[in-house]
Amino acid sequence: MKLRYFSHSSFQITTDSGRIILIDPFLDGNPTSPVKSDDVTADYIILTHGHGDHIGDAFKIAKRSDPLFICVNELADYCAKNGFKAHNMHIGGAYNFEFGRVKFTIAHHGSLTPDNQYTGEPSGVLITADGKTLYHTGDTGLFYDMKLIGEMNPVDYMLLPIGDNFTMGITDAVKAVELTNPGVAIPMHYNTFPVITVDPEEFKNKVAEIGKVCMVMQYGEEISL
Ligand code: NI
Ligand code: MN
Repeated sequence: MKLRYFSHSSFQITTDSGRIILIDPFLDGNPTSPVKSDDVTADYIILTHGHGDHIGDAFKIAKRSDPLFICVNELADYCAKNGFKAHNMHIGGAYNFEFGRVKFTIAHHGSLTPDNQYTGEPSGVLITADGKTLYHTGDTGLFYDMKLIGEMNPVDYMLLPIGDNFTMGITDAVKAVELTNPGVAIPMHYNTFPVITVDPEEFKNKVAEIGKVCMVMQYGEEISL
């Protein structure tokens, strides 16, 4: 599978079978994304929570490409009420889709949409496809259960916020990597706005100090996993 980073918490997965999965596609209103919503399509869109910088352009993209939304129950209902296809799940549950397996985890955060609908608990998501497991933590503070998540679901790539203010900052994110023990840590949710300005190289160095590997993806970069 291939993983492309648009910036913020927005990623695109392309499976070996050609399925395109977008996670939290925040592109048009995102000053750091080199890609805009008209440039992408999706077979599936996974949303971690209802905040505007995560729902982003999901509905705009969905109007063109008719993807299946995969989210926790209340957020999936919100997508369905807006006229889109949705698969309702919830935290702790996994389901085998034709491209691979999706499992939702807890996240400590909020989930109010831009139009003031509360869309249930925020989430993180484990995606297993083509023999690799990605853990996109969503927006969250540090929590000790990341240790359990990593033990029960060995993680190849952990995508986690480092920008502080709304989520973990660098020190807590390094601890999150230690607890989860992924093969590679990829930082996200930083430098999009002035209030979440941090140096990802500082995170990378601190992850190296605990004997773990960090890859700082460039905006727009795509890697093969
Ligand atoms: Ni958020
Ligand atoms: Mn956010």
